[in-house]
Amino acid sequence: MSLPHPADLICFAHRGASGYEPENTMRSFTRALELGATWIECDIRVVEDELIIFHDRTLNRLTGTPGKVSDLNLATLRSLKVMGRESIPPLSELVELARNRAHLQLELKGRGTGERTARYLNTLLEKGWRPDSFLISSFDHEELVACKKIAPSIPVGILLYGYPINTPEIARTIGAYSIHLNLEMVTPKRISTLHQEGYKVFVYTVNDPSDIQAMRTIGVDGVFSDFPDRVITTNSR
Ligand code: G3P
Ligand code: MG
Repeated sequence: MSLPHPADLICFAHRGASGYEPENTMRSFTRALELGATWIECDIRVVEDELIIFHDRTLNRLTGTPGKVSDLNLATLRSLKVMGRESIPPLSELVELARNRAHLQLELKGRGTGERTARYLNTLLEKGWRPDSFLISSFDHEELVACKKIAPSIPVGILLYGYPINTPEIARTIGAYSIHLNLEMVTPKRISTLHQEGYKVFVYTVNDPSDIQAMRTIGVDGVFSDFPDRVITTNSR
């Protein structure tokens, strides 16, 4: 087996291969695997104590239905079609697909996701899954704290829109493994500082080939992309 090239970027297939298929659906995740992705990112919400995969708080953009995800029961949500074609999947379905094939980057969206996801991941750990098969992230850092409390071995990454001046301190307080930065916030100095502080740095959402190349040159550890093939096929060059 050849070792990864030091300049290779980890590619997180963002909402699956969402540049090609309806986001956060089994079709999109399957396509990401077909394109060679080894990490899949998806967005997690809790409905009736079940974990489902859906990005928005509201339903309209993806399903054409008015109202919020939290307005509907699980059965009704499961009957909706994302972009007129695909069902909203439960997290367990993606876990089955990814078993022995890919790692999962689960982004927590909404109150209570940290605790519920941690309880679920603990059941997977008991079944033999490795903690490093997962990476949990959230813009809501309290959810990360809740997750860490219940499933301390699962790595977490802090998601940031901006770049708070005390970013390393925030990461340290939470016990984070990684820092997930918006592309707009990336500078070589920030990446170098975060690396010196011992954190991996992953950048979202990087679709333009020139931005992918720039991230590689700056030395970030990985990128989230709707087009995972654009990252994968340009690694090791
Ligand atoms: O985790 C990276 C990225 O997914 C964060 O933003 O809105 O696409 O979930 P969003
Ligand atoms: Mg996300």
